[in-house]
Amino acid sequence: MSELAWRSILVTGGCGFIGSNFIRYMLGRYQNLQVVNLDKLTYCGNLANLVDLSGDPRYIFVQGDIARPEDVKRALKLGPAEVVVNFAAETHVDRALLSPGVFVQTDVFGTYTLLEAARQCGVKRYLQVSSDEVYGPVLTGRAREEDPLRPHNPYAASKAGAELLTQAYYASFGFPTLITRGANTIGPYQYPEKIVPLFITNALDDLPLPVYGNGGAVRDYLYVTDHCRAVDLVLQRGEPGEIYNVGTGQEITGIQVAQAILELLDKPPSLLRFVQDRPGHDRRYAVDASKLRGLGWEPVYGFQEALAQTVQWYVANEPWWRPLKSGEFQAYYLQQYGERLRQALLNTGAGGGQRLG
Ligand code: TYD
Repeated sequence: MSELAWRSILVTGGCGFIGSNFIRYMLGRYQNLQVVNLDKLTYCGNLANLVDLSGDPRYIFVQGDIARPEDVKRALKLGPAEVVVNFAAETHVDRALLSPGVFVQTDVFGTYTLLEAARQCGVKRYLQVSSDEVYGPVLTGRAREEDPLRPHNPYAASKAGAELLTQAYYASFGFPTLITRGANTIGPYQYPEKIVPLFITNALDDLPLPVYGNGGAVRDYLYVTDHCRAVDLVLQRGEPGEIYNVGTGQEITGIQVAQAILELLDKPPSLLRFVQDRPGHDRRYAVDASKLRGLGWEPVYGFQEALAQTVQWYVANEPWWRPLKSGEFQAYYLQQYGERLRQALLNTGAGGGQRLG
């Protein structure tokens, strides 16, 4: 069991996908660590993600909002926190296109609220979990940390705003901040709206896989434990004020994701549906992670292994995802995909009578 320089850490958004994996990873790795998890429990925050930790005296859950100073201060004082890692965010691009305001409120104003409270409480290190989407589309080469930010959608812009505030707190107040810019992350406990869990769970139910446009947009898929190891490393060895890209360097298109999932699940290509593209769809994300590699990080999982692990987990954990695909999700799915899937059916002349979702 490894040793950490800090005894107490506040993780925000710890009931979400990467946050819950990070808490499990940290408590598994550091015996004497106290983790306080501040989470608002929005649609994608799920107490079931950490049910295995209930009863662990090292873990404390606080329901609250990073955009409310009183919630943040209460959580910071519980540890009291020496270190803060901010995973709390609205994250889904398609939802940001439908309702951008909540992204600005949580991602930008929430980050400000958290930074300010953490600074006042004398936190020793603050890590802002960001995204490679802040660069906007990278049509050639790979984005490096010093490249300009050209976010193209309201989600990416809200994450960029959060980063700029984080950097301003370092420059103005000497508050010791760090930023990680992660690639598309996949693995257990991801809410089934992102491409990989959506396509896996749809395929398991023999429902269509809605591929945007011609399926040519490129992403770099990072396994969640590789992402967690990167955040842990930057927290401990990163230089305050610095930014670190996190990515594998592999380039995978949407259609490759869909085909690989169908193959792993032994499902027919007839489940593929090319639907109307996402407006402003960023054609390619690609980061250069050599700065992080310089700290000693390397991804353990390539795309195929990461996807195979993820597929296996969803196959084995239907009781986790099945309830998430009803209620709120159904309303969202219909709004996002209903018309697109109907149009796709008409275009192929396949006619009616098929289930859309
Ligand atoms: P997503 O998982 O939403 O992540 P992001 O857009 O933040 O990178 O999408 C990943 C890629 O998959 C992106 O190019 C859009 C595409 N995609 C589809 O083709 N169909 C879908 O239903 C979704 C959700 C995404």
